[in-house]
Amino acid sequence: DSAPIEVLSITDSTNLQLMQRLQQGEVLPKGLVLVAEAQTAGRGRHGRLWYSPFAASLSFSMAWQLEQGIQAAMGLSLVVGVAVAEMLEADYQLSPQLKWPNDIYLAGKKLAGILIELSGQSDGRCQLVIGIGINVQLPAGQAARQIDQPWADLTSVLGTLDRNQLVARLQSRCAGQLRRFELLGFAPFQAEFNRRHLFANQAVQLMQGQQLVRGICHGVDAQGNLVIENQGKKQLFHGGELSLRAE
Ligand code: BTN
Repeated sequence: DSAPIEVLSITDSTNLQLMQRLQQGEVLPKGLVLVAEAQTAGRGRHGRLWYSPFAASLSFSMAWQLEQGIQAAMGLSLVVGVAVAEMLEADYQLSPQLKWPNDIYLAGKKLAGILIELSGQSDGRCQLVIGIGINVQLPAGQAARQIDQPWADLTSVLGTLDRNQLVARLQSRCAGQLRRFELLGFAPFQAEFNRRHLFANQAVQLMQGQQLVRGICHGVDAQGNLVIENQGKKQLFHGGELSLRAE
C-alpha cells in the first residue's frame, strides 16, 4: 500500500516543489515521496542552505497530513528522526544518534537533517512536507568549505550504496512510524528517542531567542519537550527555532 515515489534529476528544492503543489491546491497522496539527484537551493533549518549537489546527498521530501492538528507537529518531527535512525540501524547496521529535535549524527558528526514545513490548515488538518537530507558522498575538499560543522556521509562508512533502495526504505520506515504515532501519540517514542540522544545526561547550552540556557540534558518527556535541569530545577523546551549544543 505504499504511496508513489517521484524522481527528479535536478530541482531547486524538493520541499519547495511539494509546498508549491500544495499551495496550488493539488491533493498529494499521504506518503508521496519526491526525490532529486541534486538541489540548487536545498533548504535547511534556521534559513540555512542544505548542500546537495549531484551524488552528494539524498534529497527526500514526503507529503503528509496531520489529522490531530498543529499541536501534534512537535511530536511528529521527533518521530521522523527516530524513524530515520531506526532505518539506519535495521537496514544498514549503523548506530546513529539524534540531536534534539531531529538531527541525525554518526560518531558525533552530522549525517542527516530534517526540515518539516507546514502548508496551511483546512478543516482542522494541516498539510506537511517532511524533508530529509542524508549525506551520501560528500566531496571532501569542497564540502568542507561549504558546511559549517563536522559531517559524516554514508559512503565513507558503507562503501557504495543503492540509492533506490535507500529511498524505498526511508519511505516505508517513515510512513510506518508516522502511522504508529497517529494511533498512539508520542509516548511510545519517548524511550526510542532518549536512548539515542546525543547529549543524554550531558551539560548543554541552548539559545532561546537572545537568552542562553545552560544545564544538564535529560532528553525528552512524554510530550516530546526537551528537559534541561538547571540548579535542581527542570525546564521544558519545545518547538521553534531552538538550537542545542554541548557545553
Ligand atoms: C537541516 O538543516 O538540518 C535540515 C536539512 C533538510 C534538507 C532536506 S533535503 C530534502 C528537502 N528539501 C529541502 O530543500 N530541504 C530538505
